[in-house]
Amino acid sequence: MAQLRKKPLFNPDGDTEVFTRRMIGGNTTNLNDFNNMRYTWASDWYRQAMNNFWIPEEINLSQDIKDYPGLSLQERTAYDKILSFLVFLDSIQTANLPAIGEYITANEVNLCLSIQTFQECVHSQSYSYMLDSICSPDKRNEILYQWKTDTHLLQRNTFIGNLYNEFQEQKDSFTLLKVLTANFILEGIYFYSGFMFFYNLSRNGKMPGSAQEIRYINRDENTHLWLFRNIIRELQKEEPDLFSPDRVNILREMILEGVHQEILWGQYVIGDDIPGLTKDMIRSYIRYLGNQRWMSLGYEPLFPEHIAEPASMSWVSQYADANLVKTDFFEARSTAYAKSTALIDDL
Ligand SMILES: [Fe+2]
Ligand SMILES: [Fe+2]
Repeated sequence: MAQLRKKPLFNPDGDTEVFTRRMIGGNTTNLNDFNNMRYTWASDWYRQAMNNFWIPEEINLSQDIKDYPGLSLQERTAYDKILSFLVFLDSIQTANLPAIGEYITANEVNLCLSIQTFQECVHSQSYSYMLDSICSPDKRNEILYQWKTDTHLLQRNTFIGNLYNEFQEQKDSFTLLKVLTANFILEGIYFYSGFMFFYNLSRNGKMPGSAQEIRYINRDENTHLWLFRNIIRELQKEEPDLFSPDRVNILREMILEGVHQEILWGQYVIGDDIPGLTKDMIRSYIRYLGNQRWMSLGYEPLFPEHIAEPASMSWVSQYADANLVKTDFFEARSTAYAKSTALIDDL
C-alpha cells in the first residue's frame, strides 16, 4: 500500500499549475490561492461555511432553564448522555481534522478543513454553554465525561476512535481513506439520533433553545458531510486502485457497523420511553440515513427496504431547518447569522 509522505510546510519548489494538483500525494506550495482552484466546489463550500457563522450565546436558553427540571427522568437522562456523546464527537473531530490535513495536498481543500475544525470547536463550546446554563458545575463535569464511564457510549466511540488512532500510527493511502470514511460516518450517521432527540423534545414543546443550538450545528454538519463526500469522490477518480472491490467492501462494512452502532445507541438512550419516538422509528431512520450516505458515494443501497425517508420521521427535516420562522420569537437575532437560506442537503 502506498505510503504517504507528510507534506512540507515551506515548499518553494511546489507545483503552481492547477492541473498538477492532487488530493493526496501532490507537491503543494500551501499557498492560499482563492483564484486558482482545481477543486472549484471548494469555493462554494467556503462561502457557504462562512455564511453559516453563528455564536452559541446568541441563542436564548431561558426557557430551557425552566424546562430542564421538569423533564421526565428518561428525557433528562437521554439529554445528558446525548450531550456527553456529542461533545466527545466534536472534540475528537477538532483533534483529528488537522491530522488529515497534513496529508491533503490541495490547499483549497485544506482551507475548508481549517474552517470545519473551527466549527467543531464552536460546536463543543455550544454544548458547554447549554450545560453551564441548565446544570450545576458538578453535574456539568459529570456529564462531560460520561462518554468514558457509560459502557454503551464508550463502545461506540471506540469504533471511530480506533480508526482515528490507526491513522496516527499508519500513514498509507488506504488507512487515510478509512479515516475519511470514519469521518463520513461520524458526520453523517453518528450525530443523528442525538439531533432527532432534540428536535423531538422541541416538537413536544420542551427545550426550544437547545433545539435551536442543534439546528445550527446540524446545518454545519451538513456542509462537513458534503466536504468529505467530495473528497472521497475525487479520490475515486484520482486513485482508482484504492477502490478495488475488496477495499470497497471494507468501507461498506464500516458503514454497516456505523449504522449498527447508531441504532444500538439510539435504542439504548432513547428506547420506547420518550413520547414521540420509538425504537422502530430509530431503526428505520438510521438505516435510511446509512443508505443515503453510502449511495451518495456512488454505491448500491445497503438496506433496499429503507430507501425512502420513513413517513414517521418526516418532521425531522422540518425541525432541522435553521431558518424556521417559528424560532425567531424567542431568538431575536437568529436570522442575523442565517444569511444563507439555501441549505446544501443533497446527500
Ligand atoms: Fe460538529
Ligand atoms: Fe462536523
